[in-house]
Amino acid sequence: QPVAIPPNTKALITAGPTYEAIDPVRFIGNFSTGKMGIALAEALAERGIPVDLVLGPSKESTQHPLITTHKVVSAREMYDACERLFPEAAISILSAAVADFRPQEAAAEKIKKGSEDTMQLTLVKNPDILAHLGAIKNAGQTVVGFALETNNELEHALKKLKAKNADMIVLNSLQEAGAGFGHDTNKVTLLSADGTQTALPLQSKKEIAKSIVDCVLALKYNNA
Ligand code: C5P
Repeated sequence: QPVAIPPNTKALITAGPTYEAIDPVRFIGNFSTGKMGIALAEALAERGIPVDLVLGPSKESTQHPLITTHKVVSAREMYDACERLFPEAAISILSAAVADFRPQEAAAEKIKKGSEDTMQLTLVKNPDILAHLGAIKNAGQTVVGFALETNNELEHALKKLKAKNADMIVLNSLQEAGAGFGHDTNKVTLLSADGTQTALPLQSKKEIAKSIVDCVLALKYNNA
C-alpha cells in the first residue's frame, strides 16, 4: 500500500568498512564493500528522500543527486559524522561494518620489522554508533541496524535489537550461498521492535535494499 512520506524527511546511512590506523602505511580493516549501504541510500533517494551517506573506505560510489556522500576512514570519524548529521535524520540505517577495535595508538612512523618473531598490538574498543544513536533518538526518529551472526542468529539479533534500542534489525544470513560480504546477493530477515519478523528471499542487494526501505517506510508511516 502507498505510504505518505512527510515533506522534509531526511535519512542517514552508514556504509562500508572502517580502517583503523596501525602506523602511516598500515591499518586494521575488513572486507565490507559498501554495496548494501549504497543500495539503501539509492532506494531511499528513489523515494524522493534526501540522504546523508557516511561512507568508509570503499571503491563504490553513487552519483544520485539526492545523496550527499561524506567520506570517512576510521570508526571515530564515522561516529563524529553521524553525531553531526543524526539530528536531521528521521530514518537512520546503519549498515557499515565498523571495526570493533582500533590500535590504542597509531605509530607516528612506520613500525620497523625488528628482530622479534612476534609483535603485540594493544587494541581498544571503538564507540558503538548504532547503540549511541539508539540511546539518543527522539520519538520521531527511526533507527535500523544490521546483524551478521554465524550461530543462534535469531536469538542474537533479537538481543541486539533490544541492547541497541533499534527499531529494526536486518539479520544477514551468512549460512546461505551467495549471501554476505563481497557478493551481489543477500538473504535477510527483518526483525522489528514491534515483534514482526519478515524473511526476504535471496535477492540482489538492490532488491533487498528496496524491500528494506519499503518495510521501514511502512513501519514508520503506515498508521493512516
Ligand atoms: O554489535 P554488532 O557489530 O554486531 O552490530 C552490528 C550493527 O551495529 C550494524 O548495524 C553496525 O553498523 C552497527 N555498529 C555501529 N558501530 C559499531 C559497531 C557496530 O554502528 N562500533
